[in-house]
Amino acid sequence: MKRTRSILSVPGHQPKMHEKAAGSRADVVMLDLEDSVPLSEKASARQRAVDSVRRLEWPDKTVSCRINGVDTPFAHVDLVDLVAGAGDKINSIVVPKVDNAGDIHFVDRLLSGVESRMGIHRRIGIEASIESARGMAAIAEIARASGRITSLVFGIADYSASVGAPLISISGHGEQEDDIAAGHRWHFAMSRVVMTAKSVGIRAIDAPYGHFRDMPGLEKSARMSRHMGFDGKWAIHPDQIDTINAVFSPTKEELERARKVLAAYEQAQKEGRGAVAVDGRMVDQATIRLAEMTIVQSNK
Ligand code: COA
Ligand code: MG
Repeated sequence: MKRTRSILSVPGHQPKMHEKAAGSRADVVMLDLEDSVPLSEKASARQRAVDSVRRLEWPDKTVSCRINGVDTPFAHVDLVDLVAGAGDKINSIVVPKVDNAGDIHFVDRLLSGVESRMGIHRRIGIEASIESARGMAAIAEIARASGRITSLVFGIADYSASVGAPLISISGHGEQEDDIAAGHRWHFAMSRVVMTAKSVGIRAIDAPYGHFRDMPGLEKSARMSRHMGFDGKWAIHPDQIDTINAVFSPTKEELERARKVLAAYEQAQKEGRGAVAVDGRMVDQATIRLAEMTIVQSNK
């Protein structure tokens, strides 16, 4: 499974930025046809995105494209042109403002039609962006609406507007977690996205941090989402990528601790014991699953 720690959003009508994105350290590059593109550039963005996907090298990258919302006059043309023009090189389509399972069915059918016409045998994935109260209320049906869905994305800015929460900024319990989970407005929404995604075996991706010159703020925001179970976070500026990649990779200390826990538990099993103590803390089967997950994440 390819990594999805950082997803760099790039306006579709800015080809110079596409080159920069292709050469960046982002795990995923998302060419955007939606909110970063002005109405006057919708058609040129579509064409430029197709050109860039075809022309540029995307070494080790996942390439995705965000179409316009399915209730706009653009979405169906976006899908047809993207897939007809570069469908063999596009890994997934990000669908914004998904309100119900029907939105996904529409994209799924249209994708199947164009894939079949173009002779594309590799199935293009769908990433469903949950960014409205309606979408959040229907999230379970949305996540199950198509076998193509690879992730749920939390779109915090539109979600805030949808629920009437003023936009101020974007932003476990137990030992050493005060700076991670001091309580915040988005806990329920974010946890719901994570829980739903994981219940169907897909990824949860967090919204971008808009203040792109504020690195400590970005790190805090990314740490919070990783610790809630998100698998990655959008970036809107190349300077954000390294911080996001670092936060979503297990640290050396986390890996060392995981290995120590696994070794201690293996020893305990040999000696016929269940729970054991490591560094004065209890380790049991649940701790083992966490340690194993850390090892898996480090190999992704
Ligand atoms: N992808 C690729 N390259 C980017 C980039 C991005 N998202 N954002 C900035 N860059 C490039 C710039 O083109 C510039 O390149 P240059 O040095 O070759 O000229 C360099 O990085 C530095 O950019 P900077 O001057 O610091 O920022 P800016 O003022 O040009 O742009 C934004 C700031 C926010 C307008 C820009 O980052 C952007 O458009 N981000 C994407 C927004 C988006 O996709 N929104 C929708 C998703 S929520
Ligand atoms: Mg949005």
